[in-house]
Amino acid sequence: MDLGLRSKVALVPAASKGIGHGVAKVLATEGCKVVISSRDQDSISKAGDAIVKETGNKDVYSVKADLAIKADIDLLVDQATSKFGTIDILAYNTGPPKPGTFADLNDADWEQGVRLLLMSAVWLTKQVIPGMVQKKWGRLIYITSSTLRQPVPNLVLSNTVRLSLAGLSKSLALEYGSKGITSNGIMQGHILTDRQRQVAQDVSSRTGKGLDEAMKQMLQDVPAGRYGLTEEVGHLVAFLASEKASYVNGTMLAIDGGLIRSVF
Ligand SMILES: NC(=O)c1ccc[n+]([C@@H]2O[C@H](COP(=O)([O-])OP(=O)(O)OC[C@H]3O[C@@H](n4cnc5c(N)ncnc54)[C@H](OP(=O)(O)O)[C@@H]3O)[C@@H](O)[C@H]2O)c1
Repeated sequence: MDLGLRSKVALVPAASKGIGHGVAKVLATEGCKVVISSRDQDSISKAGDAIVKETGNKDVYSVKADLAIKADIDLLVDQATSKFGTIDILAYNTGPPKPGTFADLNDADWEQGVRLLLMSAVWLTKQVIPGMVQKKWGRLIYITSSTLRQPVPNLVLSNTVRLSLAGLSKSLALEYGSKGITSNGIMQGHILTDRQRQVAQDVSSRTGKGLDEAMKQMLQDVPAGRYGLTEEVGHLVAFLASEKASYVNGTMLAIDGGLIRSVF
């Protein structure tokens, strides 16, 4: 199926590895011009080179930016726009928040969590919306977490702050739906990345189980019985970004192998 994404400009932040990297790779395979970012120039450049090599798409541009810093985001979008033109697809992804229970976290942790998980989306969206409005076409896709529907122990920042992204995405769907722009979110469950290994490591330290056992234990609640792949999230993003999904607006889609138990 041709998704019609050739030459669309996509911005995928937090993409030197993990979910962002998988999403960027799929969008590059679909022929998008892709801008990726992370906090480390060396790793994001290497990630960009790897995507070019794997997909044969040379239009991949790597930029260093910390998503918790507004000035970095302004620079990221400026550089992306100078390179490829205004952004058509924002495949919003961000770094993982600090793990911890309510008792573990101090005010600075909360402030950093809000900057990383909410304000980064606000700042990025503010920067990309004018170009989308001008083109009368745009895709806002917020990669969030299954914690939106089903909180995870020891991830209070994720359980709390990410909920606001659902409100942001829905509000944008209402405000910009008549302008050719759709806004949707993705709630991924257990996707096999370093972050997931870190969460398993945390389970292992709390329970005294080995890492392999903890990795298996985390799958107990997943009907599919396996971890998801980063490219599987990428395929969902590519569909939401496509013309085929132009009537999908204001929704939150789970990609979790059946992990979330709620019916709606
Ligand atoms: N994997 C899962 O199963 C899962 C499930 C639900 C939710 N999530 C969430 O999905 C997001 C991606 O997770 P992942 O599993 O792909 O994580 P990951 O494998 O650890 O990759 C995280 C990526 O984010 C970048 N990053 C981290 N902090 C950043 C910051 N402040 N500014 C810019 N880039 C930053 C990292 O690069 P640098 O370190 O170079 O900056 C890296 O490229 C996270 O928010 C995570 O909490 C993941």
